[in-house]
Amino acid sequence: MWENNRLCRLLDIRYPLIQAPMAGSSTAELTIASSRAGTLGSVAAAMLSTDQLAEQCRHVREQSNGNFNVNFFAHIEPSMDAAKNAAMRDLLKPAYAAVGLSDVPEASVSSPSFGQPQLDVLLREQPSVVSFHFGLPGDDALQALKQYGARILCSATCVGEARELERRGVDAIIAQGFEAGGHRGTFAEPYEKGQVGTIALVPQVVDAVSLPVIAAGGIADGRGIAAALALGADGVQIGTAFLRCPESATNTTYRNALASSGDDRTRITQAFSGRPARGIENRYMRDMAGKEEQFPDFPIPNSLTGALRAASGKAGTGDYMSLWSGQAGALARDVPAGELIEILIRETEDVISGIQNS
Ligand SMILES: Cc1cc2nc3c(=O)[nH]c(=O)nc-3n(C[C@H](O)[C@H](O)[C@H](O)COP(=O)(O)O)c2cc1C
Repeated sequence: MWENNRLCRLLDIRYPLIQAPMAGSSTAELTIASSRAGTLGSVAAAMLSTDQLAEQCRHVREQSNGNFNVNFFAHIEPSMDAAKNAAMRDLLKPAYAAVGLSDVPEASVSSPSFGQPQLDVLLREQPSVVSFHFGLPGDDALQALKQYGARILCSATCVGEARELERRGVDAIIAQGFEAGGHRGTFAEPYEKGQVGTIALVPQVVDAVSLPVIAAGGIADGRGIAAALALGADGVQIGTAFLRCPESATNTTYRNALASSGDDRTRITQAFSGRPARGIENRYMRDMAGKEEQFPDFPIPNSLTGALRAASGKAGTGDYMSLWSGQAGALARDVPAGELIEILIRETEDVISGIQNS
């Protein structure tokens, strides 16, 4: 049986499915609906203040079964480079003019890497699962989380990263294939190391580690879930397929772009945040291609592009928005999250029994 397997037991869930944390797009309501449906809901905490983080943990705990994941970015803190900040601000001037805004904001660090303030909130709120993207924080932080009983997950985009995560003591590994929407979780340099597709990555990670492996990237229906299980994954983390659910914070422009997207519409870009991420290709991504050398370190570009993205969304064009999406974005369905999860479970069971009976 695919339900109640070792990942389910580890994470205390009925079905081995995780609603991916999606900073800027997932909401407490999405987390609540996913946890209520017998899967693991995730709070995307990378861009939350510590007050917002504590408030969201309490709200989700009260409204769900109390079992949820909280996710953070554990990137290396950026160094402020005045020349790069100025260069990117110059590059952005035509885009700002195009959406009717006059001034490109000053550069700042809009979201800090995981650190003591976030750890302090976790030690008080004690969510059952904590996941990381862009690598792990230091051993002291991991030990403190483990001491209260947190299960720790982290994304790997190649076998070497998966081995490193096992060595550092995580409880399960999210194998993020190249099809995945949003930021590549790659923490080994160079980024090109982490460009392995899900169907090639998952079985190789499964062979390399003894921990449960969670497949992520391009999985949006029961066929994808069953395929991931067939590759040896213990579970699946799904992001893009939830973006059209009413509980997601996706605005109308973004929803329309997803609804009309296709398998060939996404590209990897560094132009919004400074780190490679997959989204539906738009004018901004095309204009900024090849200029990566001039971008400041992640996440500084977020502070430069935030107002641009918001204005573009309001204008309804999407030309300058970050339309994060995996390669299976066209398979996303416009149904409430609880219903989507029921459909995914039914589809998976149909595919598995169809293969067994064929
Ligand atoms: C809109 C969006 C935002 C994302 N934000 C995060 C995030 O905050 N933290 C994280 O660990 N992963 C994030 N991801 C990546 C997901 O964890 C996961 O790897 C990805 O969604 C899987 O591919 P799929 O989108 O094809 O399902 C994001 C993905 C999307 C689509």
